[in-house]
Amino acid sequence: MEIYFHAGGEDKWTASIALVPIWKDEKILETCPDLAEAAPFLQIAPGMRDVTGRKGEISIVYGHKDLPYSRVMFIGLGEECLGRDTAMDVVREGFAKGLARVRAMHLESAHIPFFSLSRLGGELRVLEEAVYACCLANYSSIHFKKTTRESLPPAVQWLGIGFRDEYVPDAARQAARRGERSAEAVLLARKFATAPGNVMYPETFAEKARMLAADNNLKIDVLDEKDLEARGFGAHLAVGRGGAHPPRLVVLEHAPKGRENDRPIVFVGKGITFDSGGISLKPAAKMHTMKSDMTGAAATLASLVALADEGADCRVIGVMALAENMPDGNATRPGDVVTGLSGDTIEIVNTDAEGRLVLCDALAYVQQNWEPAAIIDIATLTGACAVALGDQVAGLFCSSDSLAERVLSAGHCAGEYFWRLPLWEGYKSKLKSPIADICHTGSSREGGAITAALYLQHFVKGDIPWAHLDIAGVDWCGKDTALCPEGSTGFSARTLVEIGRGGLA
Ligand code: BES
Ligand code: ZN
Ligand code: ZN
Repeated sequence: MEIYFHAGGEDKWTASIALVPIWKDEKILETCPDLAEAAPFLQIAPGMRDVTGRKGEISIVYGHKDLPYSRVMFIGLGEECLGRDTAMDVVREGFAKGLARVRAMHLESAHIPFFSLSRLGGELRVLEEAVYACCLANYSSIHFKKTTRESLPPAVQWLGIGFRDEYVPDAARQAARRGERSAEAVLLARKFATAPGNVMYPETFAEKARMLAADNNLKIDVLDEKDLEARGFGAHLAVGRGGAHPPRLVVLEHAPKGRENDRPIVFVGKGITFDSGGISLKPAAKMHTMKSDMTGAAATLASLVALADEGADCRVIGVMALAENMPDGNATRPGDVVTGLSGDTIEIVNTDAEGRLVLCDALAYVQQNWEPAAIIDIATLTGACAVALGDQVAGLFCSSDSLAERVLSAGHCAGEYFWRLPLWEGYKSKLKSPIADICHTGSSREGGAITAALYLQHFVKGDIPWAHLDIAGVDWCGKDTALCPEGSTGFSARTLVEIGRGGLA
């Protein structure tokens, strides 16, 4: 969908329909006099009687077809919630529903009058979120369908942003572009994580990353199984042993001019391209959703592409730890002991706790190679986190209060919510092994998200600010919603983009 900016008043606008959000019981022609002026027919249009602004209501009011606003779609947002934490969620959902209706009507284009946005909060933020939502709602995944376009509502071709002034403010262009780019990142992460395990496996992920890196001026380094072996990634390799597709470690770097020697922010993504559980095999129900057990790696990749494309002024490195977790004669056995890159010996008691094995080696690698300003790992790590927090909010574990605040605020801006959980010292003893330096799972299921986080913390040197995002539970969307069709949610891609945009401060 192209985005156009139209200045100089409504006579210049020719979009199929204008999208105007409205609060419940709002007298919009009074609260938004510009609208009354731009589309005078609204003052006498009979259809206005049915516009109530109730949440989820969409009413279309028609004027003569030659008028600049021949169709106005009023998008009901429900009770006014200006200034509340949830205000941008309401904006996103409203515009996504509105755009879905535009598609269902097979219209070519839509228009957002900029002057109608200030009633919803800061107009630049609202514009950014409106564009973000429209871009997400305009997308359908058709990659694996034989009947492509015909069976789906057509995509809207262009979205216009209209200004009554003579010029388009730069800040508005930038806000719209930010929203668009955030959506691109989320869609890229979803595309990777929804791709099935027979298509997206470590080698293909790495190849696609190479192409994206070349197109976006990112530095890339790929370690194959021989490199991993030579360097001593014993834990990572232990996970991949049962899979027909060998493991990979992909490293991407965005280093803007003059920032090459800055301490980087490092994202580390869990990239299990399919998690069957290995010898500790998972039950069949919902196992297919484990193709998205690489959402952390997908979000890492997508955020780096977006930050490079935007030219963000911050050095960011993304490390993606890729492997396929399968049962096989060569697969790791429960009870095996391996030596990880950190030099620790690790007792593996349950091969389904594979994420922390690839991550602990990736964390060690990061500290061997760089002096990070912060490390943030992102992983669909534990069912326990999904049980604790459900499918709308993800777990955050963090060794630094200021980094935790940064992740929470970036997540809030992104509409991806995190809740901080404790790195509870007392549970460290659960990771004692009778025969190795550390056991990779706790001795009981209780507090499983915490013991997993403590295990990872063991591999991070004390003074490096480190955050662990457990996105199990929020990575998969079971049914179509306004902002996300059934499949991977790409959760955390946009949060990472926001962190890279704003830096750590
Ligand atoms: N990938 C799973 C976690 C998961 C569960 C992600 C549900 C998304 C939705 C992870 O590898 C796993 O299986 N973890 C085990 C750990 C246990 C064996 C200690 C779990 O949570 O059961
Ligand atoms: Zn697992
Ligand atoms: Zn897993």
